[in-house]
Amino acid sequence: MAKIVGGLASSHIPSIGGAMAKGLEQDPYWKPFFDGFPPARKWLSRAKPDVVVVFYNDHGLNFFLDKMPTFAVGAAAQYQNADEGWGIPTLPPFKGCPDLSWHIINHLVDKEFDVVTCQEMLVDHAFTLPLKLFWPGASCPVLTVPICINTVQFPLPTAARCYRLGQAVGEAIRTWDSDLKVAVMGTGGLSHQLDGERAGFINKKFDLEFMDSLQDNPAWATQFSIHELVEKTGTQGVELLMWLAMRGALGASAKEIHRNYHIPISNTATGVIALEAA
Ligand code: DHB
Ligand code: FE
Repeated sequence: MAKIVGGLASSHIPSIGGAMAKGLEQDPYWKPFFDGFPPARKWLSRAKPDVVVVFYNDHGLNFFLDKMPTFAVGAAAQYQNADEGWGIPTLPPFKGCPDLSWHIINHLVDKEFDVVTCQEMLVDHAFTLPLKLFWPGASCPVLTVPICINTVQFPLPTAARCYRLGQAVGEAIRTWDSDLKVAVMGTGGLSHQLDGERAGFINKKFDLEFMDSLQDNPAWATQFSIHELVEKTGTQGVELLMWLAMRGALGASAKEIHRNYHIPISNTATGVIALEAA
């Protein structure tokens, strides 16, 4: 059976793509952010996952407001990136893993998560940039399975539901008949709000408490309703649900290998974490 080696999470901000394309990693504005990644890459070079399952939220590239699935799973052989209008380079296609995708889909539907299945799926900055940050080579060396959680248009799934989705995805991976090693990733957050009266809102205290909870008390954030999470983290900070799904997939115990937290990049409090599965 397949093995889950661990979990990764990162913020996803379009301007990171521009900074990487321009080689600004050592620039004083960017350095404290990019310095968060080499220790996670070092862990990856030891853990050597073959496949990564990525929880992220699409921002209008593949799903628009007219048709918005709560949960959607990619089941394609390849995922294309496309221009979202941020003025950043489009990255080369990412290889899929249809066999694991369909195994996850079958398990999720069996567990009463009625997901949308996508045999074609465009992937946006929330998928491409964290992969590029953890695997910075010319093309991504691991196979991928994208899983979208809607955090763009209300109603959003609860934190408890996202955690349980992650747990079900973890069960699916561990029962996948394969010798491959799998990592799980969540992208988004941490606290940020891009629009409205509270644009620029950041909540460092909550972000750090959330990061602290992930190792030993992973269900901590499930006590909060979506409206409480928006209040505490901002309208886009609620993307931290992806981190929660990732942690759910790791099972009962996980060990923090590395973390970084830096404010701000663009309008966002950025976080990175690597957790090793037990
Ligand atoms: C920013 C953050 C996001 O999560 C996103 O999807 C787009 C932009 C930002 O801070 O600029
Ligand atoms: Fe986002």
